[in-house]
Amino acid sequence: MIEGVVVRVSLIGLLLACVTTAPTNKKRDWDIYSFHINSTVTSRYATTIITSRVANRIDASQEIEFHVKIPKNAFISKFRMTIEGQTYDGVVKQKEEAQRQYTQAVSHGQSAGIVSSVGRTLEEFKTSVNVAALSKVTFELTYEELLKRRLGKYELLIHARPMQPVADFKIDVHISEQPGINFLEIKGGLSTKQLANAITKTQTPAEAWVNFYPSKEQQTQCDGCGEQGLNGDLVIAYDVQRKNSIGELKESEGYFVHHFAPSDLSRIPKNVVFIIDRSGSMRGRKMEQTREALLKILGDLAEDDHFGLITFDSDVSPWKNELLQANQNNLEAAKSFAREIDARGGTDINAAVLKGTDMLNQHPREGTASILILLTDGDPTSGVTNLEQIHKNVKEAIDSKFPLYCLGFGMDVIFEFLEKMALENNGEGRRIYEDSDAAQQLQGFYEEVATPLLKDVQMVYLGGANLTQTHFSQYYNGSEIVVAGQITDNNIAEFTAEVIAISNSNKVKYSEATPSEQPIKASSDSNIQRLWAYLTVKQLLDKEVKSSGDEKEKVKKETLDLCLKYSFVTPLTSMVVTKPQGEDSQVAHKPKEGETPIESMLDTQASRAHASRVNTGLFNHNQRTSLKGHPSIKSPPGMPGPPYHHGMNYNGMSYYTPPIYGAGRGVGAGGAGVVRGYLDTGTYAFKPLPSFDQHPGMALPDMDIPVTAHPGMRQNTGWVSRDYVGLLPTEITVKAPLRVLLPADGQALPLCYDIPAELSLRLLKDPNHDFSMNGQLGEDSKGYQKIVIHYKNNQHIEINTAGIIINGGQNSYPWRNNAIHNTNRVSLILQDKDMDITIGSTWVNIMLYEKNGIKFLWPILRQRPTGDNITGIMARPPVVYEEVQGSTMKLKIQDQEVDVSKDSAVDLSVRSAPTVPCWLIPLQTALQGELADFTVTQL
Ligand SMILES: *[C@@H]1O[C@H](CO)[C@@H](O)[C@H](O)[C@H]1NC(C)=O
Ligand SMILES: *[C@@H]1O[C@H](CO)[C@@H](O)[C@H](O)[C@H]1NC(C)=O
Ligand SMILES: *[C@@H]1O[C@H](CO)[C@@H](O)[C@H](O)[C@H]1NC(C)=O
Ligand SMILES: *[C@@H]1O[C@H](CO)[C@@H](O)[C@H](O)[C@H]1NC(C)=O
Repeated sequence: MIEGVVVRVSLIGLLLACVTTAPTNKKRDWDIYSFHINSTVTSRYATTIITSRVANRIDASQEIEFHVKIPKNAFISKFRMTIEGQTYDGVVKQKEEAQRQYTQAVSHGQSAGIVSSVGRTLEEFKTSVNVAALSKVTFELTYEELLKRRLGKYELLIHARPMQPVADFKIDVHISEQPGINFLEIKGGLSTKQLANAITKTQTPAEAWVNFYPSKEQQTQCDGCGEQGLNGDLVIAYDVQRKNSIGELKESEGYFVHHFAPSDLSRIPKNVVFIIDRSGSMRGRKMEQTREALLKILGDLAEDDHFGLITFDSDVSPWKNELLQANQNNLEAAKSFAREIDARGGTDINAAVLKGTDMLNQHPREGTASILILLTDGDPTSGVTNLEQIHKNVKEAIDSKFPLYCLGFGMDVIFEFLEKMALENNGEGRRIYEDSDAAQQLQGFYEEVATPLLKDVQMVYLGGANLTQTHFSQYYNGSEIVVAGQITDNNIAEFTAEVIAISNSNKVKYSEATPSEQPIKASSDSNIQRLWAYLTVKQLLDKEVKSSGDEKEKVKKETLDLCLKYSFVTPLTSMVVTKPQGEDSQVAHKPKEGETPIESMLDTQASRAHASRVNTGLFNHNQRTSLKGHPSIKSPPGMPGPPYHHGMNYNGMSYYTPPIYGAGRGVGAGGAGVVRGYLDTGTYAFKPLPSFDQHPGMALPDMDIPVTAHPGMRQNTGWVSRDYVGLLPTEITVKAPLRVLLPADGQALPLCYDIPAELSLRLLKDPNHDFSMNGQLGEDSKGYQKIVIHYKNNQHIEINTAGIIINGGQNSYPWRNNAIHNTNRVSLILQDKDMDITIGSTWVNIMLYEKNGIKFLWPILRQRPTGDNITGIMARPPVVYEEVQGSTMKLKIQDQEVDVSKDSAVDLSVRSAPTVPCWLIPLQTALQGELADFTVTQL
């Protein structure tokens, strides 16, 4: 049902060994006699080991270098050298500590091993060691990576360039995906005709093996290969099967991973605004590529999408001031505009992003997803240029209502600034590399977000702990949501997963108890735990970018502890490579994206240290780094974390007519208090309800109360209350009842009925599961003021217009906060003005509304409890009716003809609360019983 998760595995291995004294020497005095890359992928988690065995062929000791390239997304987790039976393991340490060791090494006149960033996707790892005459050395590097699904697939990229033909050259890939492999494709420069017979692919439904064993001859004969052997990529693209909507849950040794990527949903129409930098620096090819991409992207918009275009330099020029529908005419006009975009002035990022935000805010559409995309190639130079101020302004303006994606074009951007701005607004920062394919990079990015399928995705795990990110503002077709965590006490029986989200028309929920898969075999036991650690560290590194002050330090500490525990080389840690005696340690640092690496410094130190090996490409990196000093980027103080976002609006919300007052008289029996009663249709008999606030010692007789007719007064029911003091007769007010819609169940018009305000009602009662839910209607005829849920062992949850109180204050959460409260039986998710509560098989959604300053609650039953003796006003099945022939004012309901009238009601089950037409039926018909059966004395 659901398609498999696509994992993109990027694996590049390159081994370079050269004689530093005579790199061009044809006669080899060293030999890489074996070179293996072994990649194992389980549940999209790829662990790759590169093993290189090198022999010193000469009768003197010499320096042998190991030089490989690995994907930027990967973390090195192990490095080992074996020389003459002796192993030397790298040790991961805090970066600063490692740096200190390194500095000592330098002062001892030794060289440094290092990882540096090369190009878009790779980092290179290099080290060397002195190998005795006619001896051998084995290098082994391990790195780990969670493959990311993009555009419907995962890709594992292996780049091989050993710099010489190798007699025993092997690339082995083993992929094991429990739900089954959907497709698997081998691509890349090494997948050519000449090498075709060197590649074998073996597949079973859930496993695949790819082996690439080119002969020594083949290594010199392929495209791009020569005397120096292989030089190219092997790319393995695949996707997995998705058998159920909730996706794939796997657990092992107390850890679980959940891959969620439904595709059987219809797209959510989007509102997208493109903010395009046309500052002077964009002139030339960048501008051309941007125009090219933009024209293509405009062409790909769907007709129900709405879009806006803003270009900016020091001025902000929207194409149109509002969003327009992506129809033929508008698109043609927009394309003409796009063709004319020309580079000129400064860069006012602040004003441009605020304008885009404003356009989206001004254009709310029910059931759509809004997206803001900024493309820029430089730093803010006009308008507000203070980076912190821009972050603050943008965050306030967007207010978590939609994601902002920031694309940094070229290497002159302060990537950290853009990345932080994107992360703070639920988006992502991406680098667009200045290259011939920049237009494709832009389009590729757009395609990834082109098809929103879900919004406000909340992943909930009962019995789970230490979870990775569980809220996602949007989910796009072709991507994947991955959540990992620990299972409390490894109690799999109590562990359940559910996903609540908004699809294009509905709230949707997927749920499943206990992971369906069998625990994976011993060989990959630690895999899920490491996957969890990898994902946690990745997300913490992003969180660190967003946070500041004490929070930042806390996040750093947490990240560092995990990196050290799992021995990941990250921007916070480094690997110290210890070597045989007489040689000093080397330190491998992971560069940050766009960071000016410390190589420049090391470069000089290293060359000083090893004058004989000056710049043998030790620190080369293809990246142009910005030399501009950039101010440190800090979060404004006191900035809250990303709140939940809803992106919905309250336009079109209409309410019941204002309270209608009928005046009457009643006689109280003494004392002071409030009398509440129910005013029955026609009779206007005042019958005190059990729920009235009875004054102690006061007996209230039934009273007949004359009610002054009010033109707008509902015909059938009403409600009276009366303040009285002593024995003086006072006025009784009759307030407007609450109009409630009944589920329409596919019929032309839904039914509706009026219920007296200020009653306490039984909403749902499930005796089988010891569950009940009661609600108190407000006196303002809008909705509920308070709802109380009771469940097993006297536990209760009170929901009022201020917030949620669990067990009388054990926990409480104000509305507008994001909160998740999970216990063994209850899952409660609070998102802004929306609360989902699941108890057993019952799922209730409670929304907070505010109109004219009055707040009220509205409950919606999303999933009925199982069992057939469920009672309560929300539990009644949809009423089926027939229109009575010849009469438009009569309906046949349950074999009875009842008088009805055409009226309207507000549909509070939809956030925008539209007013819909309905057949107004009498209360008793609607309830199929007496009102008293649905009231309670105590909430
Ligand atoms: C690759 O590595 C895995 C895990 O260490 C191991 O089980 C497997 O045998 C290796 N495969 C090859 C072909 O060396
Ligand atoms: C989502 O992608 C799949 C292919 O990966 C496609 O079959 C499906 O139609 C797409 N859904 C939408 C709504 O575009
Ligand atoms: C969550 O992580 C903390 C810190 O590592 C640990 O002490 C705790 O036991 C973990 N929780 C569970 C349920 O495993
Ligand atoms: C509700 O129905 C179940 C069977 O469906 C029965 O076992 C139970 O006793 C009933 N409870 C009440 C309170 O009627």
